[in-house]
Amino acid sequence: MTLAVGVLASGRGSNLQAILDACARPEFPARVVVVISDRERALALERARAAGVEALWINPKDFTDREAFDLALVRELQARQVGLVCQAGYMRILSPVYIRAFAGRSLNIHPSLLPAFPGLHAQRQALEHGVKVAGATVHFADEAVDSGPIVMQAAVPVAPDDTEETLSARILAEEHRIYPEAIRLFAEGRLRIVGRQVIVNAEARR
Ligand code: GRF
Repeated sequence: MTLAVGVLASGRGSNLQAILDACARPEFPARVVVVISDRERALALERARAAGVEALWINPKDFTDREAFDLALVRELQARQVGLVCQAGYMRILSPVYIRAFAGRSLNIHPSLLPAFPGLHAQRQALEHGVKVAGATVHFADEAVDSGPIVMQAAVPVAPDDTEETLSARILAEEHRIYPEAIRLFAEGRLRIVGRQVIVNAEARR
């Protein structure tokens, strides 16, 4: 069976594109059924439309608070019976109402080797700290920012003359590789969360 995926994105949507491209391969076990953004003009919404995927803007100004917005978000995702939600450059903090609804079924990608450098400007934080190795992390979402159980990580070297732009580009290439890979493992039923650990089963369970 093919897993129905919802993607949340606020911006340029290059990770969304990597996911859409992976889903276009016939053997890939997941399909994006909806892309939801809090920003009307997000390039991510255009990428969804170009791929023939439903693109939905939910305007935060229509809601009194974060909980109410997230409740609407959950309803839209549930109405499309998504089995997995992927945050891909989604800039809003998710409230418990969302996290509870999609516990163990919501992934995020972050451009650092977590738990180092959570939050905004992770690549800049890495450069300012002087690390020699940086990278990207796909993890399950939980109630704190960039903190849930880690599914997959990829490391990249930091060069002495790196700028935020050059390091970000090197990390982004790895993001585009590991996010679809993590989705594939989830879709194949190969991920099991045990406390903070994510156990990856060798064999697909479908
Ligand atoms: C990526 O670096 C992702 O790790 C972070 O936000 C950025 C989104 O980029 N959470 P894009 O919109 O996927 O191009």
